Amino acid sequence: MTDTERTFVAIKPDAVQRGLMGKIITRFEEKGFKIIAMKMLEVTQEQAAKHYEEHYGKPFYNGLVRFITSAPIVAMVVEGINAVAEVRHILGATNPANADVGSIRADFSPIMACNCVHASDSVASAEREAKIYFDVEKELCTNWKTMMEIVLDGQK
Ligand code: CMP
Repeated sequence: MTDTERTFVAIKPDAVQRGLMGKIITRFEEKGFKIIAMKMLEVTQEQAAKHYEEHYGKPFYNGLVRFITSAPIVAMVVEGINAVAEVRHILGATNPANADVGSIRADFSPIMACNCVHASDSVASAEREAKIYFDVEKELCTNWKTMMEIVLDGQK
């Protein structure tokens, strides 16, 4: 299957503070994905609770919420062929100790609690998570053009 999908990605506080934003964004761009929405923000308690509702009650939940609300993140919507699975492949396993060499988490992340990036695990999760951080009716940029189209538009 080669479906065009959208997924939600968050560069987490550890990666933002370590100056890894550019390197992480580059991995998605170089693979051929479009970043159709992106913003830096400080996650509220309400956003964190919605985002991580599936983990509520787990031993790591409180630490996870404290971590994601501790400093700015970069939220993105990423679009491309099989984006949900492919972006998670680029991220690597949740625990960096198990992540494939060359993945973001294997290359940049020291421990699971600071694993640099989050990406949705399904199309349904992506839709739900994107709505927590974006007004999806207004903030997704879908007017993409080739460079030649932009040049020709400028000559009209
Ligand atoms: P993320 O993709 O953001 O989804 C939930 C996060 O919980 C996960 O990445 C990890 O950073 C964090 N986490 C901390 N401890 C665990 C654990 N034991 N199992 C799974 N996720 C954990």
